[in-house]
Amino acid sequence: MKLKNRLIISFFIITVVPVMLFGTLVLALKRIVADATAEQLVSNEVVKSFKVYMDDMGKFDDLIIQFCITEFIILIVTAIIMVMWIYKGIAPQLKVLKVAANNVKEGNLDFSVSSTGIDEMSELCNAFEDMRVRLQNNAKDRLEDEAEQRALISNIAHDLKTPITAIKGYAEGMLDGVADTPEKQEKYIRTIYNKANEMNTLINELTLYSNIDTNKIPYNFQKLNLHAYFNDCIEELGMDLENQHIRLDYANFVDPEVLIIADPEQLGRIIHNIVSNSVKYMRADNKSRIGITIKDVGDFVQIEIADNGKGIAQHDLPYVFDRFYRADTSRNSAAGGSGIGLSIVKKIVEDHGGKIWVTSKENEGTTMYFVIRKYEETPIVSEV
Ligand SMILES: Nc1ncnc2c1ncn2[C@@H]1O[C@H](COP(=O)(O)OP(=O)(O)OP(=O)(O)O)[C@@H](O)[C@H]1O
Ligand SMILES: [Mg+2]
Repeated sequence: MKLKNRLIISFFIITVVPVMLFGTLVLALKRIVADATAEQLVSNEVVKSFKVYMDDMGKFDDLIIQFCITEFIILIVTAIIMVMWIYKGIAPQLKVLKVAANNVKEGNLDFSVSSTGIDEMSELCNAFEDMRVRLQNNAKDRLEDEAEQRALISNIAHDLKTPITAIKGYAEGMLDGVADTPEKQEKYIRTIYNKANEMNTLINELTLYSNIDTNKIPYNFQKLNLHAYFNDCIEELGMDLENQHIRLDYANFVDPEVLIIADPEQLGRIIHNIVSNSVKYMRADNKSRIGITIKDVGDFVQIEIADNGKGIAQHDLPYVFDRFYRADTSRNSAAGGSGIGLSIVKKIVEDHGGKIWVTSKENEGTTMYFVIRKYEETPIVSEV
């Protein structure tokens, strides 16, 4: 039933019922008095005096009718005022909410239903407004996510094309007998192997990122000896970089006993991603160098990875950790990429309780800094 109908019915009940009750009560009293026997009149003082009063006044019926009419008018006026007051307090906001709900139903979230009042209807309007804002933000995020997903797929498809084309070219070269010496053959096979590895990394990165996005990355935190970990890591990196004619300098200023809490595989991903950027964005015109320096900074160890490559323009620096951000794409277009490497790095560093930042100068080089928390043994104090 509509609110209006309910109010009209309530209005009639409020005005008619009291009058009817009063009338019934008076009629009942009259009958009791009229039916009373002489003995009862004598024995019942109240009834007797009521009958005497009625006889004395002689105008009892007129009085009752007048009373009923006056009461009825007062009740009508009061009820009209009350019903209008309640209706005005509810109806306008209900209308607004109805329009708003229809808008939401049709997928239109560009409106506002906020209210400044302090009554329940205003609270309801404000709650509706909060819900609308949340729905709007979710819709926006979903659209952005979908756009990013599409961009990711097209980027990966684009990046996969490069190694596939190379593998095809080198395989055809071997089939056609272009690689006619054992050295050439080895070079071709090695290139095919490297390109296949590149594809593998790309696919792994994609899988890892979709996992990270939903916070599903399975971290396996361990206590690691910083020196031991980096000695292994540098040995492996050194070989890779040597093949690419890049010099690697390493300096570790941290106490050899220091332990860190980290997932060794994910820490490896951080280093690999940063170093592969340094390699990717090297300049062709100078002797390439990468330096890894580790310092003790109190509760943390600070790892710095510096290169003497192309550098990053100042206006791009704040965004390099953003997902899909690629600085100066025209300049970098030859060095393919999806712009997700550093967003992965940032996520992993932060999940380790650390922080990452970058400094860079165009045509001079880039330095990436990140900190990882040291492992501190908490002494158990026991009283003897
Ligand atoms: N060492 C560096 N030297 C110069 N530019 C860099 C360096 N590291 C990062 N950048 C810039 O930051 C951008 C973002 O790096 P990020 O690793 O996230 O993406 P990418 O290398 O372009 O792609 P992906 O890592 O997904 O293959 C790069 O496109 C590049 O412009
Ligand atoms: Mg990268």
